[in-house]
Amino acid sequence: MEFLSKFIRLSRGTSKSFQEEKSFQDETGMGAEPGDGFPILNEQHLESAGDIPCELLIGKLKESGAVILRNAIRNKREFIRLTKRLAPGEERGVVASENSLEFHGELYSSGCPPDILWFYCVRPAEIGGQTLLCDGVTIAVNLLPETTEFFMKTPLVYERAVGRKSWAYRFKTKDKRKILSELQTLNVTASFVGETLHTRLETSALRQTKWGREPAFINSLLHALDSTGRADVSNYGLRTAIPDSIVNEVRTLTVRYAYPIHWQRGDTVMIDNTRVMHGRRRFQGRRDIVAVNGICTTETLLMAAHR
Ligand SMILES: [Fe+2]
Repeated sequence: MEFLSKFIRLSRGTSKSFQEEKSFQDETGMGAEPGDGFPILNEQHLESAGDIPCELLIGKLKESGAVILRNAIRNKREFIRLTKRLAPGEERGVVASENSLEFHGELYSSGCPPDILWFYCVRPAEIGGQTLLCDGVTIAVNLLPETTEFFMKTPLVYERAVGRKSWAYRFKTKDKRKILSELQTLNVTASFVGETLHTRLETSALRQTKWGREPAFINSLLHALDSTGRADVSNYGLRTAIPDSIVNEVRTLTVRYAYPIHWQRGDTVMIDNTRVMHGRRRFQGRRDIVAVNGICTTETLLMAAHR
């Protein structure tokens, strides 16, 4: 793929040792210091009628890969209205446990990751629970050249076993043939063993972003290697052998460039899921975050600006 040659030109290697990077971690090992920031739009940016400044929002999203709206959305209904206007999708909760979650791109083990990932904070956790963002373009640029070469030559292989309740919900059908045929169009190898759906996806750790066509390191590698987080989501894992040195390098970089969102009620986050990975710090107390996996449609401004 032509875009991958950019990695060779852009890759400049890491400048800090793993030891140095440890100072960036908090007790959860998920990055205590903010890396490159993401823009926050607040009430000062609202348009005259109190409306959300959609052009500004989209401009910032394309520029930075994620944008935070603060003191601009008053309730969940307004949030859903905004998602429907720009990149609609199904409303869902987030992983319910209080554990931290390793960085991942949303649904990158499924074959059909959404374009946009939305979050809305109904209630922040009492302690911890920050969502972490990490720009995959920055990670790609900072990988060692030999690591880039490894990922260019070595696909990530994800395998997943999904129970009947989950697959029926996800595919909105109980027709197994239909499901297998849909997965085939996504290049996912799939079969049913009894009522369990087994899938296998071969994909690259390095992808091209939707806007800007930049190379990005975006995938679910770290999450798939984390046995706790993996068990929280479902039965899936990574079948590709990744050398420890490479896992450490990737983890070090994500810690260095992690950006924590210190949630406030009403915060809304719009993430370019083709570029920016997300994770979470562990937390205590009730935490209520709504998520929407948004798909850009031709009606939205997002699709119009494919540049
Ligand atoms: Fe996620």
